[in-house]
Amino acid sequence: MSSSSFRFYKVRISSFAKFLSFLMFTLLYVYFTYNAMPARKTAVIRNKNVTWKIIKGFEERGIDLYAMEEEMASRRELLFSTCQKFRIQNQKPKVWEYIIDAHHSLVWCKVHKAASDTWVHYFNILGGYNEGFLRKSKKSPMTLLRAKFPTPTLSQLQSALRSSLSFIIVRDPLERLLSTYLSLIEPKNERYYSKLKKRIKNMPFAESGTKTPPTFMEFVKYVLDNKEDEFWGTTNQFCTPCMINFTVIVKLETLLDDQEYILKRAGLEDILNPTKVRIHYLVHEKGRTRNLLPHYYQQLNFDLLYDLANMYQVDYDMFGYNITKYFMYLTLE
Ligand SMILES: *[C@@H]1O[C@H](CO)[C@@H](O)[C@H](O)[C@H]1NC(C)=O
Ligand SMILES: *[C@@H]1O[C@H](CO)[C@@H](O)[C@H](O)[C@H]1NC(C)=O
Ligand SMILES: *[C@@H]1O[C@H](CO)[C@@H](O)[C@H](O)[C@H]1NC(C)=O
Repeated sequence: MSSSSFRFYKVRISSFAKFLSFLMFTLLYVYFTYNAMPARKTAVIRNKNVTWKIIKGFEERGIDLYAMEEEMASRRELLFSTCQKFRIQNQKPKVWEYIIDAHHSLVWCKVHKAASDTWVHYFNILGGYNEGFLRKSKKSPMTLLRAKFPTPTLSQLQSALRSSLSFIIVRDPLERLLSTYLSLIEPKNERYYSKLKKRIKNMPFAESGTKTPPTFMEFVKYVLDNKEDEFWGTTNQFCTPCMINFTVIVKLETLLDDQEYILKRAGLEDILNPTKVRIHYLVHEKGRTRNLLPHYYQQLNFDLLYDLANMYQVDYDMFGYNITKYFMYLTLE
């Protein structure tokens, strides 16, 4: 071997070694990043159906904006005619339910148990927190949110509404109610719920033992005695939609497309990536509450359901939901 070919050989070896170490580093990086991902994200990969849905979602991307505009107009129309039908007027907007992001010209009225945790998270991202910080922070997401977007005054709300995309997310009222109950009976939950459990147990009608969580019937009786609670209070009362001309009425049942519509219309796609939002939705969508509706509502009796129907009648009408099926559940065994 001549000395020059030997040098050439050495050069080849060292670049090959560089390449090998680069490859190893990359593989290690990918491996550790993958393992460091929170369990939720790995669920995306494990659950074939979710993966399938995401791929399908990619194929179907590009919602039909024209059809969406029409749908949104008809939702506003229904709301407006219901407001007239019930002669709803002179309600004072409850400003503390509102979040105004002036920088992105976005106004949202928070309805508990209607994608509210999701949108508190999105507003926190719009407010400039990064995801890593939000995951680690010990403060409640709502406290962090209010540090960026303080509760508005009525005049601030009114002027923001004139120049913003405003939206509300609604949900079948009795499904929303069951969702609150399911959170209440979870073994580990926020302090709000443990206090609520105690209050229900102290009611004269409480029959189940002190060790078990309240039954659905006890919960419903409590709700009917205390209608003005933001966790289950009517959307009509807490967001006063007859007083606010919301640009977009989002329905939980069509959240995936409706959210994408908002991101597009408000030009937020650079901050809230639509694909990520889509994946987040598919991973969190459990459909659990909807599947449990018959099981829980058949535990009620006609009078209680009738009272609930009265309580939520305006919400049912203004957002185009139908309560009939709940009465059918009563006849189930
Ligand atoms: C997967 O999703 C499809 C369409 O949404 C559905 O028909 C099918 O039953 C699902 N399969 C499983 C195992 O969940
Ligand atoms: C609500 O706003 C829309 C435009 O976003 C407008 O066309 C409509 O007339 C308004 N309705 C009321 C009742 O103010
Ligand atoms: C609700 O649905 C039932 C049947 O499922 C139907 O008979 C009834 O007319 C519907 N009510 C409204 C207000 O649309």
